[in-house]
Amino acid sequence: MTITLCSHDTDAARVAAERVALEVHTRPALVLGLPTGRTSVPFYRHLALIRATDPCRFERVATFNLDEFVGLGPAHPGSYRAFMDERCFRPLGIGMSRVHFLDGLAADLQAECERYEDEVERAGGTDIQVLGLGTNGHIGFNEPSDALRARTHRVTLRPETRQANAWLFGGDLRQVPREALSMGMGTILRARAIILIATSTAKREAVTALVEGPITPRVPASFLQLHADVEVILDERAAAGLGQRSLHASRRVPVEPPT
Ligand code: GLP
Repeated sequence: MTITLCSHDTDAARVAAERVALEVHTRPALVLGLPTGRTSVPFYRHLALIRATDPCRFERVATFNLDEFVGLGPAHPGSYRAFMDERCFRPLGIGMSRVHFLDGLAADLQAECERYEDEVERAGGTDIQVLGLGTNGHIGFNEPSDALRARTHRVTLRPETRQANAWLFGGDLRQVPREALSMGMGTILRARAIILIATSTAKREAVTALVEGPITPRVPASFLQLHADVEVILDERAAAGLGQRSLHASRRVPVEPPT
């Protein structure tokens, strides 16, 4: 696991975006696994800035999103699909035929999960999986529990996760769905490379558990320790709980001079 330490959250987003953009430059038909969440907003903004200087950069990528709420369709403003359309797919010019998404309105949710797994399989798995981190250590919507599921599945969301997502619903917790569909841990860990971005004090404990704690389904992100190619990109606040050993081994990103 490589830890990249940045001064501010915007630097973390920029570093992650620059790495993804470079990988796409090297391999234009990259298969990207993508997250939603507040942390990813500046990440997508930086990707859009990169596209402004190179309009064809993301034309051939294929994308798979990690998760979606049950009961919401793309037209619902709180859906992850709406989040991605607005902040990623449209700004980056990614054609809808290359976008893969879980359908929260599917009549048969089990069949929908299987369809998604088949699509990931047909694409040959993801090349780079970008992740955010829940304050409780979840990734995607793989919530802390006694056991994790390997493949795409239906999840009951924990109260803290619904609370963390309430901003998508105008702050009204009652509007946040109680269930979601999520890629499983096995599907996530199948990615050839993983980039996790975590910023702010709210992520401090989860980051420490992810990097230094035991591998446990109580902290789903701790399973990333098993993957051979993981970069964890942090701002100083998220990294504040890490021990000297982790900090010593980390790569520090210099502050960008103001432009
Ligand atoms: C959400 C999403 C995750 C996301 C995480 C962090 O609930 N399901 O995929 O990475 O929680 O969100 P945020 O960046 O808003 O803290």
